[in-house]
Amino acid sequence: MSAWSATVLTLFPEMFPGPLGQSLSGKAMDNGTWSLETLDIRGFTSDKHASVDDTPFGGGPGMVMRADVVDAALREARDDSADDRALIYLTPRGRPITQTRVRALAEGPGVVLLCGRYEGIDQRVIDEWEPEELSIGDFVLSGGEPAALTLIDACVRLLPGVMGSDASPEEESFEGGLLEYPHYTRPREWHDREVPDVLLSGHHEKIEAWRRAEAEMVTKERRPDLWAAYHAARKRTGPR
Ligand code: ADE
Repeated sequence: MSAWSATVLTLFPEMFPGPLGQSLSGKAMDNGTWSLETLDIRGFTSDKHASVDDTPFGGGPGMVMRADVVDAALREARDDSADDRALIYLTPRGRPITQTRVRALAEGPGVVLLCGRYEGIDQRVIDEWEPEELSIGDFVLSGGEPAALTLIDACVRLLPGVMGSDASPEEESFEGGLLEYPHYTRPREWHDREVPDVLLSGHHEKIEAWRRAEAEMVTKERRPDLWAAYHAARKRTGPR
């Protein structure tokens, strides 16, 4: 099987690999666990002014990326009919990315990511290609690139071998429907703050119960949406 791969269509290819060249994802790229390719959308203009964008029909602020230019870049990215990687457009209008979706993408062959700039992309090229539209949150970035970096990071850390043997994705935030419990390490006392006694007890069941209670407390307090979903799931399947 070939390695997981990401192709990013962007007006700013120099933003890549950026943080993905560091740390765990950087090492995993060096050892061939995954690969990254960028396609510079500016290379697909056809007029002599090399314009990638134009003013919006109907008026209003900003510029809109041209359908013909984005289409040419997409055709290049998609020229292999055997390529069944997910085609994703990063936009604040998209569905929120979830850990469940990230897991599925990490288990597949990879992603082709379309990054928009300015006010967006001409809707007709979106309608024609029907990419999955995803958002990284209810806030607006100046472009899709940081969102693409974020999505790739979330996928790559789940690839086999990337997090190392001591990592446990099952225990972290969202995997069990809850935010994660807090962590502590040495020194035992710092600035008059102590490590919770139970964590020093060596009593694994008590530690697990404490961690679960902490995870439930923080989820209930900070994320009523996750808390409600967690409860609904527990009603269906019973407590673990
Ligand atoms: N582009 C601009 N804002 C974005 C967001 N919140 N998510 C994904 N892509 C974006």
